[in-house]
Amino acid sequence: KHLILIGPPGSGKGTQSPIIKDEYCLCHLATGDMLRAAVAAKTPLGVKAKEAMDKGELVSDDLVVGIIDEAVKKPSCQKGFILDGFPRTVVQAQKLDEMLEKQGAKIDKVLNFSIDDAILEERITGRWIHPSSGRSYHTKFAPPKVAGIDDVTGEPLIQRKDDTAAVLKSRLEAFHKKTKPVVDYYSKKKIVVDLQAEKPPKDVTEEIQKVLSS
Ligand code: AP5
Ligand code: ZN
Ligand code: ZN
Repeated sequence: KHLILIGPPGSGKGTQSPIIKDEYCLCHLATGDMLRAAVAAKTPLGVKAKEAMDKGELVSDDLVVGIIDEAVKKPSCQKGFILDGFPRTVVQAQKLDEMLEKQGAKIDKVLNFSIDDAILEERITGRWIHPSSGRSYHTKFAPPKVAGIDDVTGEPLIQRKDDTAAVLKSRLEAFHKKTKPVVDYYSKKKIVVDLQAEKPPKDVTEEIQKVLSS
């Protein structure tokens, strides 16, 4: 299966991906996670991406298309993948189609996490993540067993630099201007499924499972 998850910041893409990935043996490709790792390691890619990310703007299409082009060729992705946070512009979507065509593959479903913008600030400002695994928690909606500590490894949790109310505004603006047209791009291909992403995480998981088993 080849899936795309599209939704605004805080809509639940990163929460649902690990669950779905394990169940269907897919690889989870999250451009945001990959870029944050590059920034932390101060690689040339990370150095180029940092400024835009800190401001809540999109990184250039060339940079992210390059990362995905590498990633989809990995052996672990040959059974299929979940794209989380990519494509985010129509240009990225077109490049992805070209890449997949070469592999004789295609996108099966686009899961559109639909949610009111007003709910997102509380989700974003309460999020804590475990950087090396990508696991995320929420102080109110999904608290770790011990505050500030990852349940699995016992390592400390951190907050993302772009998870402030002010930067969220720019991220939402980028989503509406540049990423909404990507939903229209896939709607024309009749592969978009709308999810009610304001429901509790378990309900969203069930909705996705229903879509994938049909
Ligand atoms: P990225 O990392 O992709 O961030 P994003 O799109 O803003 O999405 P988030 O990770 O904030 O949200 P999510 O949907 O994963 O939410 P989560 O499940 O964690 O991108 C970051 C930056 O990188 C971009 O701004 C850009 O600069 C750059 N970038 C990345 N990809 C790019 C691309 N393709 N092109 C150009 N630039 C790119 O949930 C959030 C919180 O809510 C958590 O605390 C969680 O526990 C909680 N929660 C989740 N679900 C629920 C629920 N159902 N009910 C209650 N709480 C919930
Ligand atoms: Zn995410
Ligand atoms: Zn919105």
